[in-house]
Amino acid sequence: MKLFDFPFFPETASTTAGSVDALFFFALAVSALFSLLIAAFIFIFFVKYRRQHAGDVGHAIHGSLVLEIVWSVIPLAISLVLFGWGAKVFLEVSTPPKDAREYYVTGKQWMWKIQHPEGNREINELHVPIGVAIKMIMTSEDVIHSFYIPAFRIKQDVLPGRYTSVWFEATKLGTFHLFCAEYCGVEHSQMIGKVVVMAPEDYQIWLAGGVAKSPVAAGEELFSQYACNTCHLDSREGRGPWLGGIAGTPVALVGGGKAVRDDNYLRESIMLPNNKIVDGYQPLMPTFQGQISEEGVLQLISYIKSLDGAGAAERARTDSR
Ligand code: CUA
Repeated sequence: MKLFDFPFFPETASTTAGSVDALFFFALAVSALFSLLIAAFIFIFFVKYRRQHAGDVGHAIHGSLVLEIVWSVIPLAISLVLFGWGAKVFLEVSTPPKDAREYYVTGKQWMWKIQHPEGNREINELHVPIGVAIKMIMTSEDVIHSFYIPAFRIKQDVLPGRYTSVWFEATKLGTFHLFCAEYCGVEHSQMIGKVVVMAPEDYQIWLAGGVAKSPVAAGEELFSQYACNTCHLDSREGRGPWLGGIAGTPVALVGGGKAVRDDNYLRESIMLPNNKIVDGYQPLMPTFQGQISEEGVLQLISYIKSLDGAGAAERARTDSR
């Protein structure tokens, strides 16, 4: 690569990249303006207030209310603009649309493992359709990594033991860089991949070319393989609570607390079930920490999220398998 091919600024290829850039350039402009202003005044004062003859002594200044107000109010106004604008952009990039496609990402030393909603898997590659909101639900099998796609202006730490998420909607066809942006061991610099943005038709063809079992179907198998279905009964009379329709809803806990059953709650309830016992139940469930892979836990969670409160006949079939 020639030196002059070096891109000083990444491509702009997602719906939110423009607003992130605008905020960045505004902050940069404010910083540059004040840096230049201060440098200029330092120089002007050097000259203006230099000692002009031996015995020259400066006069003491006893405050200036106008000056105090000016240098308090102007920075306050600029800070508030930056805060308000920053909060707006932060909300925009951290709130995925409700209908976003959910992909599962597992980071490990030193690769990115990705699973599509249809079940297709890939390593260090991410194929996505253009113009569709994509939400990544991410965890790590070992240490902290960071999922970074410069062209989409997204970067999110990926942590062992919990889920984090990030979303984007690609606006340009092509191939973009995927990096790990958190130093994670000797081959951190090799933990790279590519994002391929495809036309929806091409993406469908790509999907059809893979051997796939959906995370929901894989999770359903694990649900009986680990005998979850012997306690979490559809009849609601099992030793554990029925799991249909619980995702995202609040629940009362033994001891008086409350919890919202989001992805992190579901994960903790599989790995360390005795941490939060649902009111009215006994701490009977075994710990699955170390028993199920991170990908298995993600599949179980997507199966649990696919269950709804109704549709008992479908589940009776599942449970009797
Ligand atoms: Cu993973 Cu650096």
